[in-house]
Amino acid sequence: MTAAKGRVAVEARPVMIRVELGERGYDIIIGAGLFDEAGHRIAKLRPGAAAVIVTDETVARLHLPRLEQVLASAGVHASKVIFPTGEGSKNYATLEQVIEAILAAKIERGDLVVALGGGVVGDLAGFAAAVTLRGIGFVQIPTTLLAQVDSAVGGKTGINSRHGKNLVGSFHQPVLVIADTALLDTLPPRQFRAGYAEVAKYGLIADAAFFAWLEANWRDVFAGGEARTHAVATSCRAKAAIVGRDERESGERALLNLGHTFGHALEAATGFSDRLLHGEAIALGLTLAFRLSARLGLTDSAEEKRVAAHLAAVGLPTRLSQVPGPLPDAAGLLALMAQDKKVRRGALVFVLARGIGKTFVEPRVEPGVVRQVLDEALRDT
Ligand code: GLY
Repeated sequence: MTAAKGRVAVEARPVMIRVELGERGYDIIIGAGLFDEAGHRIAKLRPGAAAVIVTDETVARLHLPRLEQVLASAGVHASKVIFPTGEGSKNYATLEQVIEAILAAKIERGDLVVALGGGVVGDLAGFAAAVTLRGIGFVQIPTTLLAQVDSAVGGKTGINSRHGKNLVGSFHQPVLVIADTALLDTLPPRQFRAGYAEVAKYGLIADAAFFAWLEANWRDVFAGGEARTHAVATSCRAKAAIVGRDERESGERALLNLGHTFGHALEAATGFSDRLLHGEAIALGLTLAFRLSARLGLTDSAEEKRVAAHLAAVGLPTRLSQVPGPLPDAAGLLALMAQDKKVRRGALVFVLARGIGKTFVEPRVEPGVVRQVLDEALRDT
């Protein structure tokens, strides 16, 4: 059970969480300082395997020399491929570059790709691992909060197409996830806050006690230490359990998309740029999903206000007027939603809430009410 509001949460060191997927099952290891153990853990998991580290320029500057050192000292032979930082790299050209680098390194099927970075690196490296030699194992070493609690776990990999985000990809589970919570100390505060939206999401989906704990302890989560480890571990436990029951998103896994139908439309409207980071779009999306649920009479407006108040307290945007620059009108945002992967036979699919921690997937939401919510949100300054 989640720690009660205000109590200090004590986690094992390190925290070990198993994603139960039979022969594709794997461990998520969480704790401060785990980076230094990465070489030894990888060598233990795949004795004699070589590795290709895939990372971006920013993370390479911060963490690559140390990773090369810990791999070498554990006897893991490693090569590397580094690409420009940012969502713009999640494309066919960079995928080709990464695959060719893996092949040039003479990697065999028993070797490993090591994804060192945030969501872009993990998604791209994971997809390259999925399709090279018909599938190579890969290890996720997530360096952002968002990647530690979401994208590094669960095996969704891919790149963007000009038709939309993450439209080309595959399910390819990692063989190990090493989440060193101390690496997050180097994250810019805006990036940490954006990742926090996904942490809060787990409380909102199915764990009201965790949401209450976050309301009381979020400052400690931002500061680091035990509370941060607890927040990452609780998020990963929730995700691991859902993925273990519904790997391919035929049902329950869709709950992880809470806030994402609104969020993805806002990201598309802002060109997937620094105007609005993914997690910031999700904070707005979570707020709007609760507002929509309240307008549909599923939850009361006190719950909607509580969600917005907490996200605003940590410094996340909760009003559309906080998005810099112009946004499309409600019809324009609805049109962007219609292009999302979460559309089924033309109907809008939303994750809705009967209260905090009580969400469900509603496959047929009437566009009129969504438009009303968006109109109101666009007027609200
Ligand atoms: N980020 C949602 C999922 O992994 O299913």
